[in-house]
Amino acid sequence: MVRIRIQNLGNRSIETENTERKVIELIHENRIDWMHACGKKGRCTTCKMHILAGQEYLSPETPQELQFRDLKRLLSNERLACQAQLLQGELTISVPESSKFPHLTYTE
Ligand code: FES
Repeated sequence: MVRIRIQNLGNRSIETENTERKVIELIHENRIDWMHACGKKGRCTTCKMHILAGQEYLSPETPQELQFRDLKRLLSNERLACQAQLLQGELTISVPESSKFPHLTYTE
């Protein structure tokens, strides 16, 4: 089993046995809004997540993520939720300021 915890959404927690889905799919399947302006194709960075713990449990970076990292649009503690898979363990993330929705209430 893997677990995703979203700190600034009230520590919402997602638990699943499925390690083949992208992180954003697991979030959406649990009825949590998460920005994805390019339709989850790795072209926009609006789905980026700040990694607070568990970065080592994510799948290797994709070419799209490496490209955005070269362009300094992804920091060392950020991944694209539409590209990364959680392979084991627990991942703690937060929604970056730039990707917050106006209709949601974010916690600290
Ligand atoms: S949704 Fe656009 S990069 Fe992930």
